[in-house]
Amino acid sequence: PTAYAADGDRAAFPLHRPRRLRRTPALRRLAAETTVRPSNLVQPLFVREGLSEPRPIASMPGVLQHTRDSLRKAAAEAVAAGVGGLMVFGIPEAKDALGTGASDPDGIAQQALRDVVAEVGDETVVISDINLDEYTTHGHVGVLGPDGDVDNDASLERFAEVAVVQADAGAHIVAPSGMMDGQVRHIRAALDRAGHHSVAILGYSAKYASSFYGPFRDAVESSLTGDRKSYQQHPANLRESLREVALDVSEGADMVMVKPASHYLDIVRMLADSVDVPVSAYQVSGEYSMIEAAAAKGWIDRDNAVAESLTCLYRAGATVLITYWATEFATKLAR
Ligand code: PBG
Repeated sequence: PTAYAADGDRAAFPLHRPRRLRRTPALRRLAAETTVRPSNLVQPLFVREGLSEPRPIASMPGVLQHTRDSLRKAAAEAVAAGVGGLMVFGIPEAKDALGTGASDPDGIAQQALRDVVAEVGDETVVISDINLDEYTTHGHVGVLGPDGDVDNDASLERFAEVAVVQADAGAHIVAPSGMMDGQVRHIRAALDRAGHHSVAILGYSAKYASSFYGPFRDAVESSLTGDRKSYQQHPANLRESLREVALDVSEGADMVMVKPASHYLDIVRMLADSVDVPVSAYQVSGEYSMIEAAAAKGWIDRDNAVAESLTCLYRAGATVLITYWATEFATKLAR
């Protein structure tokens, strides 16, 4: 379009006035290109073995380590708000080198999954995390080899065991988060052998070695001392995500994930434009806590920042948004 009319004095004024569509809340709502719905949101929940009262997580204001009882209530509240899914993380009382609690049919995560499935049935989607890091004394996602690094293939065997007990406990989707090579294929095969053909896999496919997981490690009482850079992706890389996602999809991933979210919107958009499975984004603990902390200091408007962060993730192409604000935000959207 020509920006100006060629008619003398008037030529100094705009012909096109995009502000017209921004003038009132009703106009802005009508012209909005994207709107997040409650069903797009997934609420992560923590359950801690041996608690008698829910316990606040210092580095994640407003987020709790649940008891089995309070977890059921939190799940019911999420369903009442229309939340699309729940992701359950268990924190065991005891850890060991192999993370045996993760594959114990009566381990805390499995008990919690059964509780949650009993509470919510098929009214929302129950997702479990396949990983050993909350259960190992060294805090790594898998089992260690003699060199002290994570042994890829030995870890796959453990993940397969974890996947099957989680599916037995009723998980609708299992989500391998360990970033071991070949994990989706190995888990798919184990699930199928155990008769769990209809349990889906959400691959943590583009998972970066990020500083923004700090508060989560506090939340799950992680004993990790080093870092995860030998298996999680380098934040400098974009093309590598295409490769990881292509591998996961070829191995049978039903959905893929980008994690963290807000600093990785280019990855979200690239994948949304190029893969034929749903793309999810995990707004991680550090992203949550930065907004909460700045808001607590009065430096930003909390509610608007939350809404903006989630809307922008959706606009970038993620259709499943994993966020610690899921229930709260879904409740606001319903109003
Ligand atoms: C692995 C796992 C992690 C997160 C989700 N699943 C931690 C990690 O890989 O170090 C991080 C989530 C968050 O920071 O909110 N169990």
